[in-house]
Amino acid sequence: MSYFTFRGETLHAEDVAVSDIAAEHGTPCYIYSRAALEASFLAYGDALAGTDHLVCYAVKANSSLAVLDVLARLGAGFDIVSGGELERVLAAGGDPAKVVFSGVSKTADEMARALDLGIHCFNLESEGELEALNCVAAEKACVAPVSIRVNPDVDAKTHPYISTGLKENKFGLAIDEALAVYQRAAQMNHVEVVGLDCHIGSQLTDITPFIDTLHRLLELVDRLADIGITIKHLDLGGGLGVTYRDEQPPSVADYMDEVRRVLGDRPLKLLFEPGRSIAANAGILVMRTEYLKSTADHHFAIVDAAMNDMLRPALYQAWMDIQPVQRRSGGHLTTWDIVGPVCETGDFLGKGRELSLSQGDLLAMFGAGAYGFVMSSNYNSRPRAAEVMVDGTAVHLVRRRETLEDLLRGETTLTES
Ligand code: LLP
Repeated sequence: MSYFTFRGETLHAEDVAVSDIAAEHGTPCYIYSRAALEASFLAYGDALAGTDHLVCYAVKANSSLAVLDVLARLGAGFDIVSGGELERVLAAGGDPAKVVFSGVSKTADEMARALDLGIHCFNLESEGELEALNCVAAEKACVAPVSIRVNPDVDAKTHPYISTGLKENKFGLAIDEALAVYQRAAQMNHVEVVGLDCHIGSQLTDITPFIDTLHRLLELVDRLADIGITIKHLDLGGGLGVTYRDEQPPSVADYMDEVRRVLGDRPLKLLFEPGRSIAANAGILVMRTEYLKSTADHHFAIVDAAMNDMLRPALYQAWMDIQPVQRRSGGHLTTWDIVGPVCETGDFLGKGRELSLSQGDLLAMFGAGAYGFVMSSNYNSRPRAAEVMVDGTAVHLVRRRETLEDLLRGETTLTES
């Protein structure tokens, strides 16, 4: 179910007309639906009812405090990849005991802070990280809970930039290497092996790679048990895809059913780190058409959002649906390239879109709730967009638009004369 729907010819976010939000808060503007976030998070809990589990939302997908707040209130765990994300989780009221710390390179300071807060688990990706964590925990006279991230060499069949489970990728350790690192961990005084972790890629639309991975992980669990190392939880990462255009990803329920079937009655707690499948379709990016420009063979709609606001089309050639906020029946259709004002040929949001457009029209990009604002920048010295959370008929500005002063914050000219 979508929480961004047309009522008559007018796009609504839950019960509020998107044009009203744009009038009040300006454009470009991200709009999130609280109900959509809640529904997509709760789908995991429903599908895992009766199974010991922890759903750790991948903060990188959308780390806005209001988004984390909505999920924390539902008892979510969080998957973080930096000290910055950890502070965001705390500021939003998240429980550190439900945090898993992923990422290829955690600094000693980040480890120390996470240890002080008592996080659930460190997902380690190299022997070097293991040695470093053991030292940091020794200094604090405590014991760090750890998982090793395994790279199962499974093809996730997704975009190469967001595929992480092949042996040529920088992530995790091959299964045999992981076994050796587990043995090393078992000898250490300041780490305790608790889990086994993996994440094979993002925007997967087929269950098979997940299940192939699960079989490989379970083999490793057994090999570890043979040498006296007990794995208590299995972290299968994130990666479940969403529909941007015509993709048909498995439902959360189908994915979880299959995982539970393969797991049988093994006494393993299940962890997941979903990002996109929780946030993507809980957000839109609203923009205004500034100018229409036609050249010999192209029609360009130049909008006030750009690659600095939404990088996915430029970086991954991602196709994101773009629709007028106010539908006009019987309008003349033209094929538009929807582009931003940034000085790069790669600055486009959509190409070849059949739309009836006039200067000043508002457009909405769908599926923009994940990997949208978080990947935005100030390139071309453009202030970053406002963010709004809709909750029924209520509209909350949850991040004000950046100002020109914000752009200069922290900078100085040379002080010498
Ligand atoms: N866990 C780990 C260790 C990850 O690296 C990621 C995503 C996730 C969980 C969450 O995956 P998800 O459920 O969102 O697929 N910027 C790209 C996506 C990069 C994903 C990076 N890692 C995009 O816009 O498509």
